[in-house]
Amino acid sequence: MAAKTTIIYTCSNCDAQQATWLGRCSECGQFGTIASQPETIIKSQSISSLKTTKAAGVTSLRLGSNLSLKRFVSGLNEVDRVLGGGLVEGGVTLLTGEPGAGKSTLLLALADSCSQPVLYASGEEALEQIEQRARRLKVKGDKLGFTAETNIQAIAQAVRQNSVKLLIIDSLQTVVSEDSLVGSSSPNQLKSILSDLVALAKETKTAVMVIGHVIKSGQAAGPKTIEHLVDVVLSLESLDKQSVKILRATKNRFGSTDEVGVFQMEEGGLIEVNNPSALFLDDRHAGAGSCITALQQGSRSLLVEVQALVTRVTKLNYPKRATTGYDSARLQLLIAVLEEKVGLKFGYNDVYVNLAGGLKSREPALDLAVCLAVISARQKKPLAKDLVVFGEVGLGGEIRAVNNMPKRLQESARLGFKQVLCSKLPNNIKFPKVLEISVVGNLFEVMDWL
Ligand code: TYD
Ligand code: MG
Repeated sequence: MAAKTTIIYTCSNCDAQQATWLGRCSECGQFGTIASQPETIIKSQSISSLKTTKAAGVTSLRLGSNLSLKRFVSGLNEVDRVLGGGLVEGGVTLLTGEPGAGKSTLLLALADSCSQPVLYASGEEALEQIEQRARRLKVKGDKLGFTAETNIQAIAQAVRQNSVKLLIIDSLQTVVSEDSLVGSSSPNQLKSILSDLVALAKETKTAVMVIGHVIKSGQAAGPKTIEHLVDVVLSLESLDKQSVKILRATKNRFGSTDEVGVFQMEEGGLIEVNNPSALFLDDRHAGAGSCITALQQGSRSLLVEVQALVTRVTKLNYPKRATTGYDSARLQLLIAVLEEKVGLKFGYNDVYVNLAGGLKSREPALDLAVCLAVISARQKKPLAKDLVVFGEVGLGGEIRAVNNMPKRLQESARLGFKQVLCSKLPNNIKFPKVLEISVVGNLFEVMDWL
């Protein structure tokens, strides 16, 4: 059968394929991401390619079939937790973040704390620069090797020869391949280098961590496929408090994506923050409009301050409902519920809500704390200093139960809070004796309690 030649144009952002060149991708809407040079694909018109070949091996996934992932810890607890319990042999992790976020610092500290042989390949910086950073971090480096090599074949050879268990690539954009015909860091080359790294990880059972650049919107630079190729995608973000860094997984084939790691950038490197609640409550203002809540971040409960401000009647046509770190549509909904169900009037007052410390959350458990912060700001009456509040608020003004109650209560007690206002507790739950717990079923009861 005659072969047919097809010409396609590929978008470097989303990998959509087009038959003609377009200035703007019709799939993802990005401008200028479609390469002006088309790819030529020769497709055979044969009806089916399913010829008889050797059958694929088939395995049962019955419990006890012993196919478990082999993990080893990196030694940095915060990173291990975000990864779902340590690095996975043969797993590939992409770490993204803005320039200066601390990616190189984090992975150097991780490389040093790992008890397995590590190879740190840096094409991004010269060895002298890394040496300077290593001195700042007081790296011991007994199991740690460095190379400035950027050639993927040479790196692969070094991994094989030195029985490396953890390979760090700083960064993906600087790695080149001997047999690459396309220019460095073109979308196709990024994909092919990353596929090679995935193949290397599988072949040598090495855990690979790759630093990737980000584009303006904070996503990994390069085609979307590079995120599909890897097992885990981590992002390192700076909070408003510039020195506080949050590590989160946006994709994790080996664990949950709820966990966050908290670090603080100091003179001597990134320090793990084992008690993040204390950090977020550090400069709490505790006046009217401030309410403490317990957020659940993966397996950990975190106390944060919700701040609300209700200003005088707006000079604009519409009153403003603005939020930082919280969903503004949710705030509008809660204000509507407060107005309808308990008759609090916000009319033309502007309302602002802020999660202090620069955290972001969409957890429904925050609702009740947002309501209390707003009520407290509206009435200009501060809440008790030792109060923690959590519960979901429904459209009927009812307070619904939230998950992980015991963890939230324990964290509240641990940080010295004495009173809790929350939704109904599950039966026979054990809670710290120091806490005085008030359960509320709806917003009327909340107003009474106040
Ligand atoms: P870096 O890890 O180079 O960021 P990235 O690889 O994400 O681009 O570190 C960024 C910043 O961290 C840099 O501006 C200097 C600062 N820093 C410290 O404050 N303390 C330290 O110990 C180190 C190594 C860096
Ligand atoms: Mg760097």
